Amino acid sequence: MRAFLRRVPGWQLLVLLKALVVGGERREAAVAMLLKPANLFQPYTTTSADRYPGELAAVRETVGEPARILSFGCASGEELLTLRRAFPAAAIHGIDINPLAVRTARKRVRGDRAITVTRAADAAAEPPSSYDVVLALAVFRHGALKHAPARCDELIRFADFERTVTGLAAAVRPGGVLVIRHANFRFTDTAAAAGFEAVRTGFGSGSAAGPTPVYGPDDRLLDPSCRDDGVYRRRTQNSR
Ligand SMILES: C[S@@+](CC[C@H](N)C(=O)[O-])C[C@H]1O[C@@H](n2cnc3c(N)ncnc32)[C@H](O)[C@@H]1O
Repeated sequence: MRAFLRRVPGWQLLVLLKALVVGGERREAAVAMLLKPANLFQPYTTTSADRYPGELAAVRETVGEPARILSFGCASGEELLTLRRAFPAAAIHGIDINPLAVRTARKRVRGDRAITVTRAADAAAEPPSSYDVVLALAVFRHGALKHAPARCDELIRFADFERTVTGLAAAVRPGGVLVIRHANFRFTDTAAAAGFEAVRTGFGSGSAAGPTPVYGPDDRLLDPSCRDDGVYRRRTQNSR
């Protein structure tokens, strides 16, 4: 029945309109899909607290107590509060492309003056080398790729990933870390990766629906076992 309804003209629009009425995470995703802001990767704002304990432990082992953290794609702010609990002394900045998620995140962190949230689609406004930790968790992906089509470029493109992740990499101070998780692309396929060394990869990926598919610089499907997301440390002059 659902497969039939999906083919009915206007069905997708009805689904989006229903999501706008239902509210919450569904409304956030519907707004992203209707507005289609430039440089949108994952339109779904699904998130929860304490999603990445292993990754945050690796961050702590690598940089100790960070002073400044950037959460790129912070969604409705649960990630910002998780980071606050893990790193009580840090100044934390959240960025998200979704205007509704940003509004919710701001409400969620109200009262913590060391957490700020802005709406943006990249790190262009962030000063170079200004963060100890930059995280892009479940951002460089698209939920509609879960069935692993042969190409991804109808939804997201490697060229946009490379440009955006290069901006994030530039915001990491030498010796600081960039954490990328659940991406449909590989950091090591970008030129920016030469300035980093892997601290920890192989955290595992995917869900009951299967592993996160991975696409190469030509936007074509790769074997998912070649994924590389994890924690990367920016090289210092001495470590080159
Ligand atoms: C699945 S949520 C991930 C939330 C959180 N990081 C986590 O892992 O729980 C993906 C988020 O990325 C945001 N996003 C997608 N493209 C973006 C872009 N170019 N700039 C900033 N945020 C983006 C979406 O709006 C969404 O809130």
